[in-house]
Amino acid sequence: MNIAIVGTGYVGLVSGTCFAELGNTVICVDNNEQKIADLNNGKIPIYEPGLEELVKKNRKKKRLSFTCNIKDAVKKSKVIFIAVGTPPKDNGDADLRYIEDVSRNIARNMNTYKVVVEKSTVPVETNKWVKYIMRLNNNKIDFDVASNPEFLKEGSAIADFMHPDRIVLGVESEKAKKLLIQLYKPLKAPIVITNIQSAEIIKHASNSFLATKISFINAVANICEKVGADVEQVAEGMGMDKRIGRNFLNAGVGYGGSCFPKDVKAFIRIAEKLGCGFEMLKEVERVNEDQKKLLFKKIEQALWILNEKTIGILGVAFKPDTDDIRSAPAIDIMKMLQGEGAHVKAYDPKAMEHAKDILPNVEFCKNAYEVAKGADALVIMTEWPEFKKLNLSKIKTILHHPIIIDGRNIFNPAKMKKMGFKYTNVGNL
Ligand code: UGA
Repeated sequence: MNIAIVGTGYVGLVSGTCFAELGNTVICVDNNEQKIADLNNGKIPIYEPGLEELVKKNRKKKRLSFTCNIKDAVKKSKVIFIAVGTPPKDNGDADLRYIEDVSRNIARNMNTYKVVVEKSTVPVETNKWVKYIMRLNNNKIDFDVASNPEFLKEGSAIADFMHPDRIVLGVESEKAKKLLIQLYKPLKAPIVITNIQSAEIIKHASNSFLATKISFINAVANICEKVGADVEQVAEGMGMDKRIGRNFLNAGVGYGGSCFPKDVKAFIRIAEKLGCGFEMLKEVERVNEDQKKLLFKKIEQALWILNEKTIGILGVAFKPDTDDIRSAPAIDIMKMLQGEGAHVKAYDPKAMEHAKDILPNVEFCKNAYEVAKGADALVIMTEWPEFKKLNLSKIKTILHHPIIIDGRNIFNPAKMKKMGFKYTNVGNL
């Protein structure tokens, strides 16, 4: 099938590449000329395991191309996905100006019937507006709108696309439904067909629910600390109940990234505007913010005065296997430490280039050992696999004091204490 994907951000680039891998002819469109030039030179703007190889393979097979020419892409495609950004405005609303822009552009360039599919995460009823704007700009050519939210996780996005738990298709015509089912058929995954509003809500509700799970276990972790319980064991015991499940019950310094913080905020705003205040989600946000403050307190409790102390930070990305630092808890913690006059050293396997721009006074190091050398304490902010394999005896000898504050619970507290570390994590004191 001939497909266009407008927007080559995370969702657009991964989805476009995977659709090409399934045998479709895909044109990825973006108005950022530099990005398109880079992609045409084989340079991938994000780090995502396996993506570079897949882009290369599909470009070679002539199934995947990149362009700034939306007119040409629309004319050549039957299904057009909108995957542009919906950043938060100051009041928490999603900024939908790029969606409107693209809808108008698609409408003006349609020559035959098209299905226009919303893949960006948008407030419920956005599709109604997409349809309205498209009709205003083209009242001659027949088209359908649809919603097909994406559930990719950064770091495992290709596997998530190729082996999804479910595919959600919000449609309002048989024609669009048939085309989209045909497109997804090779994945052999369960398909949930809904109306468009339901599909839009499924996305916001799913992300908000997962964020709620995280804040829930973090709140439980804080109780565990007070009474000598271990949140890891509590999560294990809860998670074995199939109705609860163990996933997303990892206590830590809280959720970050480009999705959960933005989507929880947007869902709160959507509910408010509809007159259905969602106080529970406000609490989810509050717990998440507090987790950072609590971790900071733990650093203070281990070192007392932070001024002129050297703190080593392991992990800057908001989670492992990505170079994404958007709303990464590590960024806030480093700023808080610098605010107290501490000298901050940091290392991340992939995310340092991005971090250098916003944290010019942090000393970025070549590896974890360089960070630990001479530091008064080591703080773990991202659970990269390589941190779990560190030579802890070596770390102990090179640290100025054997203090580790673990914001992601990657080590066994009993073992750490036995080794002579003053070790603090989340939910186990
Ligand atoms: C999230 C969703 O998981 C995807 O399904 C969705 O498609 C995506 O948002 C999106 O809307 O585009 P992502 O932000 O890539 O994916 O990452 P997650 O793996 O969900 O992690 C989000 C944050 O939660 C990270 O900071 C992670 O460290 C934190 N987290 C996750 C926890 O603190 N505890 C957990 O148990 C799980």
